[in-house]
Amino acid sequence: MNALEIRDLMVRYGDVLAVDRVSFAASEGEFVSLLGPSGCGKTTTLRCIAGLESASSGEIRIGATTVARDGHETPPEQRGVNMVFQSYAVWPHMTVFENVAYGLRTRGDSKAEIARRVAETLQLVGLSGFAERYGTELSGGQQQRVAVARAVITEPHLLLFDEPLSNLDAGLRERMRFELLALQRRLGRTSIYVTHDQQEAMAMSDRIILMDHGRIVQQGAPRDLYERPANLFAASFIGNANLLTGQVTAAHGEGRFTVRLGDDLELSALAARPGWTPDSQALVCIRPENISLDSAGFAATTTRVSYLGAMQSCEFAAGPLTLRADLPARTRITAGEHVRLHIDPASVVLVPET
Ligand SMILES: Nc1ncnc2c1ncn2[C@@H]1O[C@H](COP(=O)(O)OP(=O)(O)OP(=O)(O)O)[C@@H](O)[C@H]1O
Ligand SMILES: [Mg+2]
Repeated sequence: MNALEIRDLMVRYGDVLAVDRVSFAASEGEFVSLLGPSGCGKTTTLRCIAGLESASSGEIRIGATTVARDGHETPPEQRGVNMVFQSYAVWPHMTVFENVAYGLRTRGDSKAEIARRVAETLQLVGLSGFAERYGTELSGGQQQRVAVARAVITEPHLLLFDEPLSNLDAGLRERMRFELLALQRRLGRTSIYVTHDQQEAMAMSDRIILMDHGRIVQQGAPRDLYERPANLFAASFIGNANLLTGQVTAAHGEGRFTVRLGDDLELSALAARPGWTPDSQALVCIRPENISLDSAGFAATTTRVSYLGAMQSCEFAAGPLTLRADLPARTRITAGEHVRLHIDPASVVLVPET
């Protein structure tokens, strides 16, 4: 049985279709991200799962229980779901202890039990010793941990996160990604995590659900989305791909094609979906890390070199083509230099426009 199942979820605000036939499931213990640009319907989907927003149509099941269908909605507090918000919503006039204990108090746990569980949970999120601090006396990162502690202490079936790291500075944000994921793994709680940050989604998720304009564009493991983007939007939203228009010159079966780029650059390419025939135009996706210098390769002129420490982001002109490549930082290369380039054939994919 899936921990969460959503079928044909639609949410309409007047003329705006915020969520458009969204269907997906999460298995027990899975970490699933909803990823997409601002306004694509991530928060609305999450709020429907929590019961904070009503579905216009569709069905939501949490474990064996249907919590939304045909206008029948289970109230949020009966869904066994807790949410961590971007703003943390830590109560400033309460201590950390009182913030974290809140869920246990409202359900009437004993004082001794509450004390034990709060101490245990604060330890889990690395806040032992902060129990008596007030909300106003905490840094952003500490407030974030209080919010997580408050969400996990009642052991909900589902943990929902809405951009919980976006208010933190870059360094802390990266550390908290791994902390949060490690905590989720220890607790084994199914988690739905909303973010517009593709790197965050890639680093944390078992599975990414990529959304655009209220719809799911693609879902799969981070590697699937990166290496086999379903369409132009997926290819351009995740990573920093070269997307070039080419001409299919031969079909070899099993999704293998030859494409021509520019005047005379012939490449072997893979297509995840059928639909191309010789002579058709195709969008060709080449990731910058799959282009390298190679004396047996094709001729190009270096037009830009940006040294970024871990690597160099370079741009080349090859006839009418512009190609971006990530080269090792140790490579000596300067703008204006004539070079020869190689494109890893296993990494070239044909991508549908829509
Ligand atoms: N209460 C509301 N009334 C009317 N329109 C709304 C309401 N809430 C959201 N919308 C609209 O629904 C769409 C989806 O909004 P949602 O908040 O789900 O996006 P999001 O993917 O979470 O974006 P962000 O990354 O900016 O948080 C947007 O077009 C938004 O303007
Ligand atoms: Mg949002």
